[in-house]
Amino acid sequence: MFEHVDAYAGDPILSLNEAFQKDPRAGKINLSIGIYFDNEGRIPMLPSVRAAELAVVEAAGARPYLPMEGAANFRSAVQGLLFGEGHPAIAAGRIATIQGVGSSGGLKVGADLLKRYFPDSKVYLSDPTWDNHRAVFEGSGHVCETYPYYDPATGGVRFEALLAFFQQLPARSVVLMHACCHNPTGVDLTADQWRALVPVFRERQLLPFLDLAYQGYGDGIDEDAFAPRLLADEGVSFLIANSFSKSMSLYGERCGALSVVCPDADQAARVLGQMKFMIRRNYSNPPMHGGQVVAKVLTDPKLRAMWFAEVADMRERIQAMRRELHRVLVAKLPGRNFDYFLTQRGMFSYTGLTADQADRLKNDHAVYILRSGRMCVAGLNTRNVEATAEAMAAVLGA
Ligand code: LMR
Repeated sequence: MFEHVDAYAGDPILSLNEAFQKDPRAGKINLSIGIYFDNEGRIPMLPSVRAAELAVVEAAGARPYLPMEGAANFRSAVQGLLFGEGHPAIAAGRIATIQGVGSSGGLKVGADLLKRYFPDSKVYLSDPTWDNHRAVFEGSGHVCETYPYYDPATGGVRFEALLAFFQQLPARSVVLMHACCHNPTGVDLTADQWRALVPVFRERQLLPFLDLAYQGYGDGIDEDAFAPRLLADEGVSFLIANSFSKSMSLYGERCGALSVVCPDADQAARVLGQMKFMIRRNYSNPPMHGGQVVAKVLTDPKLRAMWFAEVADMRERIQAMRRELHRVLVAKLPGRNFDYFLTQRGMFSYTGLTADQADRLKNDHAVYILRSGRMCVAGLNTRNVEATAEAMAAVLGA
């Protein structure tokens, strides 16, 4: 019956992480998947999240189905976090938010919605982007193409090329953009570049779809929401999928959301209705527990303040590891420029290593980075950073 089913080639991120788990070598270093590990190499249980979870469990009662769109307290807390409490777009009721299954689930619901109501629109992804973006949108039947983004020559954004590309796109094209901490490059648009895009979005009638999976890992929780707040202020219609996997260290709880910022409340109500339909036919309704933990952290002033401080600690630890990696690499290979480790932001660095070099890093040194050259800097700690830098220097110097 299933003779014709192809073998799965595996996922470039998840399969590599599985290979790491099976690697018997002592001292192996996992810089593959986008997970924040603390300095002890553990996935942290944030004290704010732990306290919220205990309170949620204490108060837990019956477990009815959540509504298709998720829990109301979670959805409104997400809106406040993304757009700022009391933002006029929230007050006007023109943002439709659903509780997703991680931000991947939000991307999927958004992709389905767009396929139904923008069937002829192509989806444009940054070159490069998160490995799963194309799969999610193609899985919903979209045709995906790329727009210029990363410049390997400068280690920056090809902003003029990006702007020129957007300026010739057909109306209602979907442009998928990373709101902060670009995955995989760690190279972000500046505030001025975002501002320069606003008239292009308007005049070309483009539909931005933001992905905000690393809120707080760039400059801060509010600072990293600059792009959605700007677009909402400027009256641009757009979608945004966001996640609490990284920011609350709640990976397996699959907590995230999809928000669609609409011109008015009437359109937002209809968009919300259709998102409910997309959810109903995908997975019916979201799970309860993780979302309630997130809502508790966001709505309890004491826990919220704790969480902001915990995210700052994670962000600063990553920055310290970037500095240390840079220091050792510069000492080992003095002729080379490794400044990109200092300027890239968030969890990831695009190392510039080739697939072959990444393979050698894994095979000869038990250091796992993606074959695209992406390294999860958040997997470094004071015990493995030197060994990582030495392994990289060996591979680069060979
Ligand atoms: C990553 O990019 O490594 C993370 O977002 C995890 C994933 O699902 O790919």
